[in-house]
Amino acid sequence: AIPNKVTIIEVGPRDGLQNEKSFVPTEVKKDFIRSLKNAGLTELELTSFVSPKWVPQMGDATEITADCLDANTRDIVLAPNRKGIERIYMTECRAVAVFVGVSNTFNKKNINKSTQESMDELKPIIGELKEKGYFVRACISTAFHCPYEGAIDPEDTVGLCRQFVDAGADELSVADTIGMAAPHESHGLFSRLKEEFPTTLLAAHFHDTRKMALTNIFAALQAGVDRFDTSAGGLGGCPFAPGAAGNAATEDVVYMLERMGIETNVNLDQLLEAVKIVQPHLSRPIESTYFRLNAQT
Ligand code: HMG
Ligand code: MG
Repeated sequence: AIPNKVTIIEVGPRDGLQNEKSFVPTEVKKDFIRSLKNAGLTELELTSFVSPKWVPQMGDATEITADCLDANTRDIVLAPNRKGIERIYMTECRAVAVFVGVSNTFNKKNINKSTQESMDELKPIIGELKEKGYFVRACISTAFHCPYEGAIDPEDTVGLCRQFVDAGADELSVADTIGMAAPHESHGLFSRLKEEFPTTLLAAHFHDTRKMALTNIFAALQAGVDRFDTSAGGLGGCPFAPGAAGNAATEDVVYMLERMGIETNVNLDQLLEAVKIVQPHLSRPIESTYFRLNAQT
């Protein structure tokens, strides 16, 4: 059955901004995050602790984390390796996302390691994080398609998810990195994952390269998924995945869900205010339909 309540995990400050060419001032990022929380978003990816040489936009991760944590929201920060985790241990943050690609070639381009090398590093880290009481999310890239290797065998995705669940992850965020999934594939994979991992939180993360994100979300809803990663303004993309356009826009997804009578607790007017804060600092236009129809000045 379709869930009657959905949790949105807002990834705009992280996935949304990491692909922006010019540096968005740290104070603007903080205002953006505060405003997103005012809109009712309760779970957010704030930033990522990656190499500032690889992703200069995330170079202010420590400062963002220091100033944007709240007691009543789940503020998640990302790390791909031990170095990132050690930097996170210096902060007060209590929720961490690690990330890895099903596709070996993609993982090499993104993290400079094979998928298995990343897993060998991350598994003990997850155990350690759980021992310390952290919430642990595992982001699975190229779960459907890889820009370098083509179609991904769903069994490979399920297998990688199993490694994370066995290692102790609380949540799987399963991603269509370059927006190539079709609705039947979304329904098929998420039905399978629901069945395999009934007690693990499961989120769907769709990029909207081919304008299929909403349809894929609807298909995942029908498979019982009630957590979706979306990005305010439809910003986003991975710098190391050619063809990765923005994420599904939070406002378009919330609009669809609310029209379906599915509760999100997100205030659309306030969400548009959040988008307007970053808009002047972006090198591309806001393409979400809800924003275009309702926020023109
Ligand atoms: P490397 O060059 O192989 O790293 O990069 P290294 O271990 O050889 O270290 C080289 C230098 O980087 C050293 O500094 C390290 O200290 C430093 P130096 O001695 O030269 O001054 N370093 C770090 N600094 C800060 N934080 C760290 C860190 N690690 C090493 N964590 C590395 C390997 C993983 C660092 C690099 O490849 C990297 O940063 N990759 C991140 C790529 C990225 O951010 N991608 C986007 C996020 S994933 C995504 O968007 C997908 C998702 O949305 C789901 C989907 O849609 O698919 C989640
Ligand atoms: Mg992404």
